[in-house]
Amino acid sequence: MKPNQPFLSDIQEIRKRARQHMEKGAITDGYKADLETVLKVLNEALATELVCVLRYKRHQFMARGLNAQSVAEEFAEHAKEEQSHADQIAERITQLGGEPNFSPEGMLTRSHSEYVEGSTLVDMIKEDLVAERIAIESYSEIIRYLGENDPTSRRMMEEILAKEEEHADDMNNLIERVGKQK
Ligand SMILES: [Fe+2]
Ligand SMILES: [Fe+2]
Repeated sequence: MKPNQPFLSDIQEIRKRARQHMEKGAITDGYKADLETVLKVLNEALATELVCVLRYKRHQFMARGLNAQSVAEEFAEHAKEEQSHADQIAERITQLGGEPNFSPEGMLTRSHSEYVEGSTLVDMIKEDLVAERIAIESYSEIIRYLGENDPTSRRMMEEILAKEEEHADDMNNLIERVGKQK
């Protein structure tokens, strides 16, 4: 697993995919087509959160080394927060009359972020930072897309986005701390 290179093309693919869905939203002609896109995009955000839960849980239990315990605690806290994001999004999907997709089948395809195990503690933290950055990027697009058409979903995504920015900052600080003591 080489954490430095392969993500570039993946992020581009992810952005392209996210954009494709959004362009389908026909805002002028009837709410239905729009709602369909909103539900699709929210289900992708749900998959993103669920993959993040799984990745942070894996990292929590596989953390080894000098700072393992405090880093594992940080991973555990993030996993919990991603789970609560997933719950919020699922709730919103049902409010909109849709069905939250919790199927493990195709979850990684729906998710914007990836599941990378990482071998060392620093690798794990870096993978988490990459995943957070992907979430920040794609949630920002979702927020721009939602705009004034669905302010409730937008506000929810804005709150989640703020949390993902905190997460990225946490991971950034951890890399500095753990990386230096290596
Ligand atoms: Fe999240
Ligand atoms: Fe996060």
